[in-house]
Amino acid sequence: MKLNDELTVAIASVTEAAAIAALPWVGKHNKNAADESAVSAMRERLNNLNINGRIVIGEGEIDEAPMLYIGEQVGNGQGEKVEIAVDPIDGTRMVAMGENNSLAILAAGFEGSFLQAPDMYMEKFIVGKQATGAIDLDHCLEYNLDAVAQILNKSLNQLTLAILDKPRHHDIIKDLRAKGINVITLPDGDVLASLYATMPNNSIDIMYGIGGAPEGVISAAIAKALGGDMQARLITRDIAKGNNAENREWAANEIARCHKMGTEVNVKLSLDTLVRHQDVMFAATAITAGDLLSGVNEQAEYLQTDSLIINGATRSLRFVKNYHLR
Ligand code: FBP
Repeated sequence: MKLNDELTVAIASVTEAAAIAALPWVGKHNKNAADESAVSAMRERLNNLNINGRIVIGEGEIDEAPMLYIGEQVGNGQGEKVEIAVDPIDGTRMVAMGENNSLAILAAGFEGSFLQAPDMYMEKFIVGKQATGAIDLDHCLEYNLDAVAQILNKSLNQLTLAILDKPRHHDIIKDLRAKGINVITLPDGDVLASLYATMPNNSIDIMYGIGGAPEGVISAAIAKALGGDMQARLITRDIAKGNNAENREWAANEIARCHKMGTEVNVKLSLDTLVRHQDVMFAATAITAGDLLSGVNEQAEYLQTDSLIINGATRSLRFVKNYHLR
């Protein structure tokens, strides 16, 4: 079975709808309103599609509705069985603050394509095609950096690595810079960094760090579709956000939810475990402007969206500028 172009483009229209819905909230300092608006636009568009869809990675679990929750059925129920991983806004804070590089994103594949995991944290190490096979998260970070440098025939000070600028990474960033590695720090939005690490002529050699698991599985879909590589580990909140009583309680709950979904925390996950089939697609539509895509452009007669659609079955990337007449 193949995710044909027609279905891929139809599914990609979902991120366009989310980006347009988030636009009125750009710079309005209201993360929740932006997110809710993008979520309901995504749900509405998904439910108009000729698919028998299920959200496998979403914004929360069933008790957290109205988010697009894990297990939610979407589509008109009449077409193919499709699994969907969504992040209605990757960079909600950037939308709220009117900053660059926020994206509406999703990945889709047929039944059984994606790892089932709760909405928690994930350690991610992502590389492009040329470094496929080099990484092994059972070894330390230094080992992996050396392995990537060796396979790319570079020295450490020729490597470029992107990482989220979060307190949990500050010591690592210092160490990496001391080694001479060119470290690019991002305030938020690690899926964009995953794209830069895995697209042809990749400008980043490695995307590394702890970020969201939904963004991790979506990044794995990108890596799988483009022939890059990724390893990951599910990380509990006490490790990602600080070891205090509240986060330890949260962590115990995350471990239980992982068991329910048939997965484990702190265990190495290969790309094939994260995404089982090559036949997956990814779509991103920019909300605010960025280097890769232009933000939604509002004119009197139309709204213009700029999207990237990656199709793993046809191994293709296409940039789509779409004019939505008012
Ligand atoms: P959202 O906009 O969906 O909240 O995600 C932004 C983001 O920066 C992700 O790209 C990243 O994976 C995650 O948040 C990191 O989480 P946190 O900000 O809690 O450290």
